[in-house]
Amino acid sequence: MEKMNFAKLVDAPIKAGTRVLMRVDYNVPFAVDGTISDDKRMQDSLPTVRYCLERGAKVVLCSHFGRPEGKPDPKFSLRPVYEHLKKLLPNVTVQFAPFTVGDAVVEQINALPNGSVLLVENTRFTKAETDNDPAFAKQLSLLGDVFVNDAFGAAHRAHASTVGVADYLPAYAGLLMEREITYLSQITHNQQRPFTVIIGGKKASDKMPLALKLADVADYVLVGGKIAQDWQADGMAHRATIHVAPDQGLDISAETVAKWQPIIQSSRTIFWNGPLGQFDVDPQNARGTRAVAQIIQDTDAVSVVGGGDTAAAVKDFKFTHVSTGGGAALEFVEGTTLPGIACLIKKGEQTNA
Ligand code: 3PG
Repeated sequence: MEKMNFAKLVDAPIKAGTRVLMRVDYNVPFAVDGTISDDKRMQDSLPTVRYCLERGAKVVLCSHFGRPEGKPDPKFSLRPVYEHLKKLLPNVTVQFAPFTVGDAVVEQINALPNGSVLLVENTRFTKAETDNDPAFAKQLSLLGDVFVNDAFGAAHRAHASTVGVADYLPAYAGLLMEREITYLSQITHNQQRPFTVIIGGKKASDKMPLALKLADVADYVLVGGKIAQDWQADGMAHRATIHVAPDQGLDISAETVAKWQPIIQSSRTIFWNGPLGQFDVDPQNARGTRAVAQIIQDTDAVSVVGGGDTAAAVKDFKFTHVSTGGGAALEFVEGTTLPGIACLIKKGEQTNA
């Protein structure tokens, strides 16, 4: 992978009154009772938000939430996220805009006191977002003087708010984005072997091709969770030995964990993405995931865990790094330069030219 030379937050000309349009990934999991079951993505964005607030900026946050199919849908409103954000920033004025772009939002930003935050409504309430429509990207750019991308979790999506908007504003990587790149690069650059990848979760159509690509890089690929049930071998020869949990039900079995144990214990680098049981259905199904977390914690390996659901289940365990990215972390480790990072690199090169 080429050297990542991108413009960083410290390079951004942020002072009192600067309107910072910040892309965050507030696509956080909700429990059945309507509360946020894991706010790590929000917590981890706060250092960047605070950095801007301390300089007197007006911070305009934008994010997607779920997959609302390109039209406004109250089920996918960011309003509940806004309610939580207010609690995370108790001494700060935090407002919500019921639209994503437009004159009313711009007026709200103009009236916003310096050192305050405005969260705008779900960027995916229009298809123009996922189409990376330049007209929508331009409208988004009217919400800021500078663009800061801290949404590592969405950096694998070439959308208007992650990529297109960088064509219209000076663009910088936020502190979370920078940290993610630093840690995940430890997995992609001269990693110590054996290198083991553990993949679980549900998004089989997204993850299966990535798991097979990683099988050409890693020494072992261990597949559990719902994706183990849907797994289809591609019949190709791969560098890695692939173990697909043979008896996967709602949780990975104790027998499979016991079979994986010596592989994990012998590993020097471990990357794990996706839960190994469906604990959204029943918290009991977190047993296998926690057992694997314990085995990893007891090794001296460099261990990186990615994905909101996984991170939530293993938050009592220690790893080298817990990523806010699910699919993004997976694609990064597989060796892709993510579009949300590529546009920042392009900007960095233009700035340094
Ligand atoms: C994620 O949760 O992986 C990111 O927020 C991206 O969401 P998406 O898969 O709906 O694009």
